[in-house]
Amino acid sequence: MNDPIGVFDSGVGGLTVAREIMRQLPGESLIYFGDTARVPYGSKSRKTVCKYSRQIANFLLTKQVKAIVIACNTASALAREELEELVDVPVIDVVRPGARMAAETTKNKRIGILGTESTIKSGIYEEYLHQIDPEITVVSKACPLFVPLVEEGLIEDRVTEDIVGRYLHDMKEYEIDSLVLGCTHYPLLRGVIGREMGESVRLVNPAYETAKSLKEMLREKNLFAAPGNRASHRYFVSDGVEKFISFANAVLPCHVSETTVVDIESY
Ligand code: DGL
Repeated sequence: MNDPIGVFDSGVGGLTVAREIMRQLPGESLIYFGDTARVPYGSKSRKTVCKYSRQIANFLLTKQVKAIVIACNTASALAREELEELVDVPVIDVVRPGARMAAETTKNKRIGILGTESTIKSGIYEEYLHQIDPEITVVSKACPLFVPLVEEGLIEDRVTEDIVGRYLHDMKEYEIDSLVLGCTHYPLLRGVIGREMGESVRLVNPAYETAKSLKEMLREKNLFAAPGNRASHRYFVSDGVEKFISFANAVLPCHVSETTVVDIESY
């Protein structure tokens, strides 16, 4: 089935998930929506994030998507259940695959979670991890300054090193051996985070596992694009086309030249 897969995020961060889907499923076409006018979601309430997610799902359905990937950790944490009830196509989120991968990665059953304030407050990673194994100890930390640092392009920078050091200082005392980068932007800081935590801590990027879950679901439901399908990707945002295009071209393996602005409030 050659219909596209809808992928959405609060902004540009979900492009790290889109990149992984493009790598693992090169024959699939994507419709990406970045809610660049209303980002960040990470400090907003469940009610607001659910409303935004519903509007985006309604928009994606007008593009005949065959599945929806919630590429945003915060929207996955707060709005997945509601979206699953709303739409009649399969929904894949980033939190459950990330939790599963962390549980598979840890040897000492001590896992750290980094995320936005709303994701951490929701307790969703703990919930999934304890469903998998109640003996796992989970240490969580909200890192609200990471997103603006990435958006400003301060990836390898003294300011970033300083803030990463401050946020992760306490976490180092818990002797975790796996650390979930539970926000779309954090995989872009993996160099600095990895140096700060040291070699004994494995960094878990939910994007990889999400693309794997998507692939499994497409196989199970017989939804793969036909062999030889030429994938074509389209990008939509709610504002700020130029910034989106330049970020997309820094992150994605393909060139992005066009992005369309959508009046998302009308969906
Ligand atoms: N995409 C969000 C997430 O993964 C990060 C940016 C935001 O706060 O909206 O949680």
